Amino acid sequence: MPRARIGLWLSLTLRSTRSLCRAGFMEGQPQGPPNPAGMENGTEPCGEERASEAQETTVTEGAAKIAFPSANEVFYNPVQEFNRDLTCAVITEFARIQLGAKGIQIKVPGEKDVQKVVVDLSEQEEEKAELKKGANLAPGDQPRTAAVGEICEEGLRVLEGLAASGLRSIRFAREVPGLQSVVANDASARAVDLMCRNVQLNAVAHLVHPRQADARMLMYQHQRASERFDVIDLDPYGSPAPFLDAAVQAVSEGGEATLTWAQSRARGFRRILTAQAFLAGLLCVTCTDMAVLAGNSGETCYSKYGAMALKSRACHEMALRIVLHSLDLRANCYQRFVVPLLSVSADFYVRVFVRVFTGQAKVKASASKQALVFQCVGCGTFHLQRLGKASGASGGRVKFSAACGPPIGPECEHCGQRHQLGGPLWAEPIHDLDFVGRVLQAVSTNPGRFHTSERIQGVLSVITEELPDVPLYYTLDQLSSTIRCSTPSLLQLRSALLHAGFRVSLSHACKNAVKTDAPSSALWDIMRCWEKECPVKRERLSEASPAFRILSVEPRHMLIQVRSRIFPLPLPFCPCPGLAPSLPSWTTAVGSPRPASGPQPLPTAATVHR
Ligand SMILES: C[S@@+](CC[C@H](N)C(=O)[O-])C[C@H]1O[C@@H](n2cnc3c(N)ncnc32)[C@H](O)[C@@H]1O
Ligand SMILES: [Zn+2]
Repeated sequence: MPRARIGLWLSLTLRSTRSLCRAGFMEGQPQGPPNPAGMENGTEPCGEERASEAQETTVTEGAAKIAFPSANEVFYNPVQEFNRDLTCAVITEFARIQLGAKGIQIKVPGEKDVQKVVVDLSEQEEEKAELKKGANLAPGDQPRTAAVGEICEEGLRVLEGLAASGLRSIRFAREVPGLQSVVANDASARAVDLMCRNVQLNAVAHLVHPRQADARMLMYQHQRASERFDVIDLDPYGSPAPFLDAAVQAVSEGGEATLTWAQSRARGFRRILTAQAFLAGLLCVTCTDMAVLAGNSGETCYSKYGAMALKSRACHEMALRIVLHSLDLRANCYQRFVVPLLSVSADFYVRVFVRVFTGQAKVKASASKQALVFQCVGCGTFHLQRLGKASGASGGRVKFSAACGPPIGPECEHCGQRHQLGGPLWAEPIHDLDFVGRVLQAVSTNPGRFHTSERIQGVLSVITEELPDVPLYYTLDQLSSTIRCSTPSLLQLRSALLHAGFRVSLSHACKNAVKTDAPSSALWDIMRCWEKECPVKRERLSEASPAFRILSVEPRHMLIQVRSRIFPLPLPFCPCPGLAPSLPSWTTAVGSPRPASGPQPLPTAATVHR
């Protein structure tokens, strides 16, 4: 697949999305109720001839070529190419799983013609025997195939609710196999006009159906189980909050697929259950209102997402968890719940990919998946408090009750200051590591497919190594600036934590961040030991300061050595300044769970661009 080419030079690269959006042809278009003039709900507006623009700019991204009106009307955002590439990669793997369950093998451009089979080592012998049987499949049992650009009758029905020029939808049609249809919707008549022309330009009119409607109305009209979409993509300016209620109702439940064990194996699944478990719709949501989600206006965040955001060094992961909380809460109203597949913080936005399931019984578990955050205003130490408690009862049942708390006293045990209360936020894993491994493997073995493949590999590699059961993180500069000392290296801090017997990982959401299951008391002990090697002048500290309070206590664990005993790094750190490296494999040696079938570490250190 060719690298993205920009047909005419655009003076865009240095402009933020926000300014791009404002400068765009949507200027003045609110995300609330759009102007109904000329807009019927869900009309297909491509029938008429429309006057072509006098001057146009053409942009090529992925396999799509998009014409934009030029002059001052600038609304192609190249920074979001990573978002679109990643979405194509995710929907492709989703299609591989969904269609595989129906016996359809997808054909991905650039991939070898053999359906990938991910096999647990423990299952290899069993599999050899089954593959022998599978070799004699009846002709009717041979997998059917689905290629890009073709209508697959049993394929995915996709909705892009806020499609602007149609670039994303057209890329789906030209790059993702196994689609039945793509509805490319926008409230703006001008956007839909342009979309129609781009659909023609890319010869995808058989797959991509432009619509002019308020995305909410369109989704509310698709609540019936038979009319739901298998994939809904929401990529608004700012917050997606107004669209979430409709979206969680319009995403499909999926059908039932009954495969024999051998069929399941022959089609690339380890277990029949794996295929069935994926039979639920996929919701892909972008949020660019990071100021709100990062705690600049906690009350605004509450009004949009039902959660208080805090100003925190861990704000990027907090943002992801607030969005996941919000999605789950809205789904719960309709006896549905979300299961995150992949949650990414990148550039100026967060992007989540969740499956939506229905199940009244399982919705009862939702309270116990959310947590409040207590964060000290002095030293930044945080504690999570689950909202509900799920415990085992007799007969294998689960009993739900209110959680007990709070987990902390009125004053911080380390610095004596008060706590701020944030959340509720999603406290369960934010990725499905098996699924992330599939996407990573597909992109790694076919890197020519996307312009941003290297970045996708870097981000997903770090994600596969993130401690899945440890929400949030501390940053190096937060720890050192709190006690006013010099900053240890990431390697030194991680070595100290590992020596002390704790698990540790990086976070894709923030460079110099450390996720660890160590209690905050151990972290501060490590920092006290570090300070002994690079002493802070006590006379410069106010007695009421967090630094003074923390350093007045002797470390309880004097064995923690920050400098002298450093764990070796088998992989070199990324030489690019400012970029975090792929997490070396040694960090998992002390118990960080790796995905059972996850990818092996990449041969070279992958880079993460934030
Ligand atoms: C950020 S742009 C979408 C970019 C596009 N997804 C892409 O990847 O190129 C947001 C779009 O949402 C549209 N929009 C705003 N409010 C809407 C609504 N209530 N219903 C449908 N579209 C809406 C705007 O007209 C604008 O074109
Ligand atoms: Zn404190």
